[in-house]
Amino acid sequence: MAGEVDQFSFVNATLLASVVLIVWFVVKRLFSRGHFVHGFHEKYVLLTGCDSGFGKVTALELDRLGFNVFATCLTKEGQEELNAVCSERLKTIHLDVTDSQEIRDALGFVMQNLPANTAKGEWSKKYVVGVIAFVFSVNDADKREEIEAPDGNFAIFNEDASISLRVTSNSLKCDQKPVKCATLSDKVTIVIITGLSHLPGLWGLINNAGIARIGPVEWQSLEDYKRVADVNLWGLIDVTKVFLPLIKKECGRIINLASIAGRASLPHASSYSISKFGVEAFSDALRRELKSRGVKVSVIEPGFFKTNITNKENLQGMWKELWAKLDPNLKEEYGYGFYQTSVSNMLKGMVDTCASPHLCKVVDAIVHALSAQNPKSRYVVGWDAKLLWIWISWLPAPVGDALLNMLGDKTELTKEPRKHRTRNGNNNIIETSFA
Ligand SMILES: NC(=O)c1ccc[n+]([C@@H]2O[C@H](COP(=O)([O-])OP(=O)(O)OC[C@H]3O[C@@H](n4cnc5c(N)ncnc54)[C@H](OP(=O)(O)O)[C@@H]3O)[C@@H](O)[C@H]2O)c1
Repeated sequence: MAGEVDQFSFVNATLLASVVLIVWFVVKRLFSRGHFVHGFHEKYVLLTGCDSGFGKVTALELDRLGFNVFATCLTKEGQEELNAVCSERLKTIHLDVTDSQEIRDALGFVMQNLPANTAKGEWSKKYVVGVIAFVFSVNDADKREEIEAPDGNFAIFNEDASISLRVTSNSLKCDQKPVKCATLSDKVTIVIITGLSHLPGLWGLINNAGIARIGPVEWQSLEDYKRVADVNLWGLIDVTKVFLPLIKKECGRIINLASIAGRASLPHASSYSISKFGVEAFSDALRRELKSRGVKVSVIEPGFFKTNITNKENLQGMWKELWAKLDPNLKEEYGYGFYQTSVSNMLKGMVDTCASPHLCKVVDAIVHALSAQNPKSRYVVGWDAKLLWIWISWLPAPVGDALLNMLGDKTELTKEPRKHRTRNGNNNIIETSFA
């Protein structure tokens, strides 16, 4: 009897301890979500696809908040529009993310414009846990030494002493070794270093550039699929790999614009969904690989928002072009009614009902991912994403499919397929022809 009571108390105590631990963990995470990093004006961020939509509004907001922004645009007009209204902290760069050479040229531009190359001779202070480091530059450098900063620690070595300072998650480029070191008390150490210049990397990389193609699988060419993936996926990976060394220097952030279409693959958006599922897969692996290097990776998953991608005329134009180019046999099979209903479903369901004009919600998510001390791995943004699409991705396939079927008008083929194919008991294919 006593043994049973002991066992019972042990189980209860374990359960209680687990609940307390879980609650503590959740509260701690939620609490830390509201804490933000400081010194935006010292942070450098690269953002792709700033001609329009989320990219443009985010560039404006980051500039307003005081970040140093490298805003890449596909067009000259996009660059001019941003240059006209932003502060001098924002610099525009022409960049087509499908062009590897342009990405490398953009890296060159960014490196030239990071402050170590422009602000030599200035001095900076850092205060952390009672340690004060005075760092200033003297231009008598003849020796270079790279000091890495894994997990926010960096060590400064000189002939006399080795001091480990917990400063920020930075790395320093040292032109000459420290010459003087004095410990004033247990808590305060002053280190005077000559020839040391602070070489920041990039605090943030925001992969935003993207395009969409729509239409049924049979209507889209392989080229359509490749074009979408070139921009949304391979371009994003290329940009990330090229700028990763600079991000690692700062233990910075990578923020990838995926989509709720990267969680649930919707009909007539397969090429787009494939690219966004790829972005999700890439981001998950990247987040797990870079955690130990202090780099945080977040994915933004918006539902539908009113930008050029969801612009009615653009969508109608894409459908019209697909229909005009469609193989006559497929045209006959699908029928004009299917085409019309599909276009109207997309415009009514996706644009009129779902697409939100409040782009600031996505911008807020990006800014949080960039500046919160503990950013989320995923940001699902928009009522449609939270109430509808994410559930379709979680529900068992038959339930999710049924739910999708209930939305919009039926897009049955107006003509039956001319041949209906089944297998008989001997596993032979039987074709039934229709007149
Ligand atoms: N709007 C939505 O409902 C929604 C939902 C989920 C996810 N997203 C994602 O959000 C991101 C931004 O899209 P958006 O909605 O803001 O649409 P958008 O206004 O069309 O913005 C896309 C941006 O990417 C640029 N771009 C296109 N191809 C490029 C290339 N090869 N190289 C560099 N830049 C290129 C565009 O330049 P041009 O303007 O010069 O073409 C434009 O600035 C995309 O990744 C998109 O997939 C959008």
